Amino acid sequence: MKTLCVAVVVLSLTSVGQPAPLVCEKLLKPADKAPDFPGIWYFIALTSDTCVVTTLLNYVLWPSYSMNITSMNTPNVYNANYRIKTYGYCGTESEDFLFENNTVFDDDVNNFPVIQPEMLLQSGCSDCFIVKRKDKNIDMLMLFSRRQNVSAAELNEFEKQAECLGWAKPEVLNSDHDFENCLDDVDIDNPELLPLIFQRLRNKYEVPFKCMSESAQTFHKAVYEWAQQQWATLW
Ligand SMILES: *[C@@H]1O[C@H](CO)[C@@H](O)[C@H](O)[C@H]1NC(C)=O
Ligand SMILES: *[C@@H]1O[C@H](CO)[C@@H](O)[C@H](O)[C@H]1NC(C)=O
Ligand SMILES: *[C@@H]1O[C@H](CO)[C@@H](O)[C@H](O)[C@H]1NC(C)=O
Repeated sequence: MKTLCVAVVVLSLTSVGQPAPLVCEKLLKPADKAPDFPGIWYFIALTSDTCVVTTLLNYVLWPSYSMNITSMNTPNVYNANYRIKTYGYCGTESEDFLFENNTVFDDDVNNFPVIQPEMLLQSGCSDCFIVKRKDKNIDMLMLFSRRQNVSAAELNEFEKQAECLGWAKPEVLNSDHDFENCLDDVDIDNPELLPLIFQRLRNKYEVPFKCMSESAQTFHKAVYEWAQQQWATLW
């Protein structure tokens, strides 16, 4: 029991060093103007209040993700046509959303405004927008840009925003947006996907393990190291 307490104290101590409150107040301000939505946007990076989400997304699925937004006939209503690519497999999906009062409401057009509003945060990046969303009690911050890549400074600002919220360091998504070359339609039950996921995890197991151990908070460092070692020797 004693070692458990020590582990928890050490974990809490490592989370000090957040940016100054004033800096954070500025960084977490809502966007003061709406982005010009229509056109292509690339999903660059995301962070969450639980590292499990970022870890799953970036270490298991590792997708690239873009959307083509078009204006609908109703004011403030748009259609987003998503394209996702994971391990060479591609998929599309389409969804309408309403943007009003700096907030994105997603559902079908006939049924606005609905659940899970998403707020836009200000961004120093001129062709980006940042969405803060809450989904089933999981909070997320997502960075989209007109460009497939943002600069280090722009990514750094996004990291600061995550830090201000006390969230995990953002994960940068895959930037392979070549949808001309796809193996097949994405299907999570496809048995060929599993070995590819394992292959990625095999090389990148450190972050998922760190997340798992920190999430559990009951993992002693020795257990973590042991598990890490076990994982490495499994392959
Ligand atoms: C985006 O969607 C619009 C409307 O459906 C379409 O005209 C346009 O070609 C699309 N752009 C791309 C790059 O797919
Ligand atoms: C936006 O704000 C206005 C004024 O407060 C309100 O009347 C309107 O219902 C809000 N829109 C949505 C979608 O909540
Ligand atoms: C993104 O940036 C990386 C390195 O900064 C570069 O190698 C890559 O080609 C860029 N990708 C695109 C699509 O611009």
